[in-house]
This record gives sequence, C-alpha cells and structure tokens, in this order.
Amino acid sequence: MSYQVLARKWRPRTFAELTGQGHVVTALANALSRGQVHHAYLLTGTRGVGKTTIARILAKSLNCLTNGVSATPCGTCAACADIDAGRFVDLLELDAASNTQVEQMRDLLDNARYAPTVGRYKVYLIDEVHQLSKHSFNAMLKTLEEPPEHVKFVLATTEPEKVPVTVLSRCLQFALKPLTPEEIGGRLAYILREEGVPHDEGAIAMIARAASGSLRDGLSLLDQAIAFGGGEVRDQPVRAMLGVVDREFVYRIADALADGDGPALLAQADAIAARGLSAEVALAEFAGLVHRIAVAQAVPQAADAFDDAGRVKDYAMRFAPEAIQLLWQIAAQGRADLAIAPDESTGFAMTLLRMLAFEPASSASPARGPRERAPEPQRTARAGAAASAGGDGHPAQAAAGPQPARATSTPRAVLPSEPRDWPAFVADLKLTGMAGELAAQSEMRRLEGAVLTLALPAGHQHLAGKSYADRLKAALEQATGARLLLAFEVGEVADDSLAARTARERDEARARTEAAFRAEPLVSELVARFGATVRTDSIKPR
Ligand SMILES: Nc1ncnc2c1ncn2[C@@H]1O[C@H](COP(=O)(O)OP(=O)(O)O)[C@@H](O)[C@H]1O
Ligand SMILES: [Mg+2]
Ligand SMILES: [Zn+2]
Repeated sequence: MSYQVLARKWRPRTFAELTGQGHVVTALANALSRGQVHHAYLLTGTRGVGKTTIARILAKSLNCLTNGVSATPCGTCAACADIDAGRFVDLLELDAASNTQVEQMRDLLDNARYAPTVGRYKVYLIDEVHQLSKHSFNAMLKTLEEPPEHVKFVLATTEPEKVPVTVLSRCLQFALKPLTPEEIGGRLAYILREEGVPHDEGAIAMIARAASGSLRDGLSLLDQAIAFGGGEVRDQPVRAMLGVVDREFVYRIADALADGDGPALLAQADAIAARGLSAEVALAEFAGLVHRIAVAQAVPQAADAFDDAGRVKDYAMRFAPEAIQLLWQIAAQGRADLAIAPDESTGFAMTLLRMLAFEPASSASPARGPRERAPEPQRTARAGAAASAGGDGHPAQAAAGPQPARATSTPRAVLPSEPRDWPAFVADLKLTGMAGELAAQSEMRRLEGAVLTLALPAGHQHLAGKSYADRLKAALEQATGARLLLAFEVGEVADDSLAARTARERDEARARTEAAFRAEPLVSELVARFGATVRTDSIKPR
C-alpha cells in the first residue's frame, strides 16, 4: 500500500475530532441542531487550520442519510462515505485560484438552480474565493442574493480583506484561528500514538512551534521527521532537521543579559558560531523567549501553558517589562540586520551586545555603565525596574515610546480616512499592551467599508498573529463604536507608523548621545574586535 501523507489520512471527519476552532464548531453545531443553517458561510484563516475540513463536515451534516440534518453525521452512510472520499456529486468543490473563468463560474451557478442529484443540499465549497475575477464575483452574487432553498455556500479564504464587501455582507463569517503550539503538539502526539510511532515530547514541541499555527504544516513536518528519523521522531534528529538552536543557549543569553555579564554573552555568541548554528534561528528562538516573558509579565496565568513556564516566570521577575519590550525590538531589528552584517556571527554578536548596552528610555532607575559587570542583580536597571513592577501583572508598556499628550474631547474616535492620519489617531487612542504595540508598529493601508487594512514591517509580523490582532480589533471597535475587520499586509512599509515617527523624533536626541556612547569602553572594544560600526539609530538617550 502506498504511503498516505498524514495530513490527508488524519483529516478530522467529525466536529468532535477537530483541534481548536471551538467557537466556530459551537456556532455551526447550534445552527445545525436548530435547523437554522445560514445559506452562505465565509471561513477565513491561514492555511491548514481547518477551513476545508470544516466545510466537508458541514456537507456531511447537511446530507447524512442516517441522522438527517444534525451536527453528528453518521460517517458510514453512502452520503457520508462519498463526501469523505471526495466523490459526492452534490458537494461541488472549486478552487477559485484555478477556476477564475467567468463561464465556468456561470455554468456552475446555473446548475445551482437544479435540485441536488442524490443529497438533501447542494453544497458549493469555493476555496480561495478572493481570487475569483470581478465578473465571477458578480455571477456568484446573483445566486447569493436569492439562494435556492437547496443550496448552501461555504466560501473559504486566506485573505478576507480581498473579498468584496457585497459578498462579505451576505455571508456569515467565521474567523478560524491559528492553532497554538500546544494544540498542534497535542494533535501530533495523538496521531503518533495511533500510528505507533516512537517519539520524544521535546521533538513534538519543536515541530509544533515550527508549524507556526498551521496543523497542515505541522503534519507535513511530522511526515518529514518520520522519514528523516527512520520511523521515529526523536529530539536530536528533529532539532537537526529544523535547524533548531538548543534552548539552553537561549537561556544562557537571557541569564547573561539579566546579570549584565558581557563576557558571558560574547561566549554564547562564540559558542553558537562554533557549533555552526544559525544566528537567524537563534535570534528567532530568543525572540520567542522574550515573547513568552512578556506574556508572563502581562498575564501571569497565561504563562502556565508554556513548556518552560518555570524559567519564563523566573525571567519575568528578573527583567523589567520595558526591558523586555526593548529586547524584543533589538532582536527583531537584529534579524533584519543579519542581511547587511559583514557575516552572520558578527551581526549576531552585535545584536547581543546592543541588548546589553541599552536600557529602556523610560526606565527610571539609575543608569549603569555598560561595561560594568553587575554581580548583584539589583545593580542593573533591568532588575531594579522589575522589582518595582512587583509582579502585579500590569500590562507591558508599548515600546513606541512616549505618546504625544493630546486632549480627546469626544469619547468616540473616528477612523482616519487617510493613511497619513493613522499615527496621530493611534497616539490619541493611548492603547497599552500588545494591542498598543501592534497599533504603533502598523501603518494604515486603506479603509474599505468595515475592512481596515494595516501593514507591518517584516520584523513585526508576529504581532498580527495570535490574539493581538483580536485585541486591537476590540480596542478599535470600542473606541470608534464601529464593527471592523482587520487585515494585515507584511513587508512593504513606508516607515509611517507611530513607532517610526516617534523614532524619527528621537533621532535628534540620539545624535547628542552618540558621541558619549562611542566613548564607552565596551563599544570601543567592540569596534576593535569586530570592526563594527555603531548604528546610530539604535542609541536611546538616558
Ligand atoms: N483544526 C484542525 N484539527 C485537526 N486537523 C486539522 C485542523 N486543521 C487542519 N488540520 C489538518 O490539516 C489538513 C489540512 O486542513 P484543511 O482543513 O484542508 O486546511 P485549510 O484551512 O487550508 O482548508 C487536514 O487534512 C488535517 O489533517
Ligand atoms: Mg483548504
Ligand atoms: Zn451519514
């Protein structure tokens, strides 16, 4: 028998078997049991989070011969079996990416008028619906406006912001969430147990993280890992396969930073270079740790879910929230800078030393000389500020720096219509925490109907994922009183976010500090050792 890839073999066949997406499943199950299924659904979300899977289960729920319309199709009747096998005549699966022809679309929708051949409902599943041509959209709209009783539409897209508002407004929309590493890990472990594949928990955790929210990606990596590991999924080979940097390195870097220990920090940079590990991956892993620390500082209970919760909580006490925000920015900038560094290990060492040399501009603690070793933790500004934060869980401050104080006279804010007004709008909102960070780093692209499209620099794209986008959406909706749909574009930015503007305004102050900074012994040592140049834009006045 030929090998079937895990993602196909383990496509969930019931709602109960789905990982995550509980909010969507509950809503669909309620509608099904009440017999109030909407005629058109739009499922949004990145690749491999369950859009097609949910659409197929819905098709079974509507057409099951044994159980009638219900949230628990039998899975064995002719209709269920045919849908699972992908050969049910009344489930019409179309990939808009390859069916953009108007005539094809028209043929398809003309057929919608006819009663289903064998089933109760004709179900149209149109994948990547945003890729339909304008004409095809119009053809579809006609059917959406007056849908025949026996027709249900399930539209799926990874880019909801590209779906015309006319279509959006006729659909019930469900946003599928990227799956957490824990959710992905749980599913992978379950599948490996069922398959009888020996495995290490650490290996699963690494794959789950590398999957970045997509279960399909997780399962493809798992396929690779099984092949790579000769039928087993073990820590060492998986680490090699993924190019993962041992977390111990990352912890030692964090320790050196917390202690203000320059030599220890350089030793880690050397060790990573000597082992031929990727600086890019090391910085990404470090950024991951910084993110977990930030979460632990803002929402201590949320940190319990991390597989290294103990250490993360320890760091959460040792670093000030402002320092964590700064480390995050330097790590993100450092990844971008690797491309222009003379070589990877120099770029990496520079980034680490920059982390050591700078303190948050907002830190009220007394400055410390960067070259000093600080044997007792209280002497570092980082630890000092952490002590004053006192673990009371107040949300981490956005790293965008001081926000211009402006009086807001009206309680209702109005979304700007021009991208250039976005930074001032964001400043007025005075958002805190990660929603504030996301808003500050974002530039506005456009506002079309309820769809607000923002752009993020590549180094900050993580902010658009997870729950931060939801938080920003909620904050914006509260401030404006309007319902919104947020969309993000990553990459091309014009440097016109609040953060970029604030940074520019600080440049002047920085220039003054620069001369003083160059005179620091650590810096001159660095310049001598690596032939490095000082990046003026990284200097913050104290
Ligand atoms: N929520 C989920 N629960 C369990 N498996 C999932 C989930 N999402 C995706 N998968 C796995 O990934 C594969 C692809 O999922 P699919 O639903 O086609 O993703 P997409 O969102 O891109 O349509 C499925 O066959 C299944 O194995
Ligand atoms: Mg799909
Ligand atoms: Zn059935």
